[in-house]
Amino acid sequence: MSDKTNDIADLYKQYLLATYTPAVALLEGHGSKVTDIDGMQYIDLTSGIATLACGHCHPAVTEAIVAQAKMLPHCSNLYYNTNMVLLAQRLSKLSGGYKAFFANSGAEANENMVKIARLWGRDTGRYEVVTFNKGFHGRTLAMCAATAQDKIQAGFDPLPVGFAYADYNDLDSVKAAIGDKTVAILLEPIQAEGGVHPADPDFLKGLAALCKERNLLLLMDEVQTGMGRTGTMFAWEAYGVKPDLFTLAKALGGGLPLSAVLVRPDIAALVHPGMLGTTFGGNPCACAAAIAVLDTIEKEGLLAHAKAAGEQFRAGLEAFMDAYPQILDVRGKGLLLGMAVEGAAKDVVDACRNYGVLCTTAGEHVVRFLPPLNISEKDLEEALEIIGDALEELYGPND
Ligand SMILES: Cc1ncc(COP(=O)(O)O)c(C=O)c1O
Repeated sequence: MSDKTNDIADLYKQYLLATYTPAVALLEGHGSKVTDIDGMQYIDLTSGIATLACGHCHPAVTEAIVAQAKMLPHCSNLYYNTNMVLLAQRLSKLSGGYKAFFANSGAEANENMVKIARLWGRDTGRYEVVTFNKGFHGRTLAMCAATAQDKIQAGFDPLPVGFAYADYNDLDSVKAAIGDKTVAILLEPIQAEGGVHPADPDFLKGLAALCKERNLLLLMDEVQTGMGRTGTMFAWEAYGVKPDLFTLAKALGGGLPLSAVLVRPDIAALVHPGMLGTTFGGNPCACAAAIAVLDTIEKEGLLAHAKAAGEQFRAGLEAFMDAYPQILDVRGKGLLLGMAVEGAAKDVVDACRNYGVLCTTAGEHVVRFLPPLNISEKDLEEALEIIGDALEELYGPND
């Protein structure tokens, strides 16, 4: 670590809760490239953990934020906010008529989605939501309870009640978890933090049929998969299984904090003034950024690009798997890809960073790649070369 980075690390230790363990201090970014405070350049295959769909400082997104910041940075939900209304209209078109509630983070959107499901179940006395082992839904107390992972829940007892757990891609396990009080099933179409596990198409279809049969709501957490990451605007589109409610966050605000719950119109009708709320949700700058993100995805054909770039990158990772027995699996969809390794994924992440590629983990043994949706073929090729160098250092020459 350089002296400059060490100084920041010392201040971080002194003044912040020890929540994360950052390795470098980033100064600026353009497209898929970022530079740290020592001038080292990296290809960023994290894009702010899936937030920067259009890359760093995309001119359309930056200009939308700056223009709005100069005019009316915030106005609260006491007054009409044109950007919020226009964004809701765009999302309604994309989702086939769903209505929006805007919040600030993924956890907050999921929490509100569960509140709406409880409203829907109130007449029948049902409130419990079945979620999945290895899922991840956020860090508020209720979302810790929804997240069936010891490492997320440990130390925060007692957790809110109202959640039961099942095994992902196992319909029998879901049937066993459903009880008299069950009102909904909540899942990620691809479990991301939990190790990049895509849902089996038959499992999702079976889940939708089960929800119909038992009069349950199907809730999808598209916080990480939404906004084109998997090659369709929402991951559920590719499965042909439409949830009753779903959430978006991460990439929605183009790097600003913004999340949304999208709700089937008849269910949306249950919500009346005073039931849900937030000061910052749907902030005009964040909504301006979101509209610019949607425009850019459309104008630059980023859904098709995410699919093609995902295939290119996946082929490169699979070649590493052929070369190294320490690489056990490559999985995911579009530009949400995971590489399962023997040993600590963090070692691979650290080695890649030392050579000039930023990636992250998904659990202990999976390296997660989340490049911007507009990453160029050339940048991906360069990233693969760098990852190859890092793997060679870790695992030895591959021939
Ligand atoms: C699928 C999923 N849901 C919820 C969250 C929580 O989002 P936030 O950190 O914005 O609260 C995340 C964050 O990584 C996520 O990946």
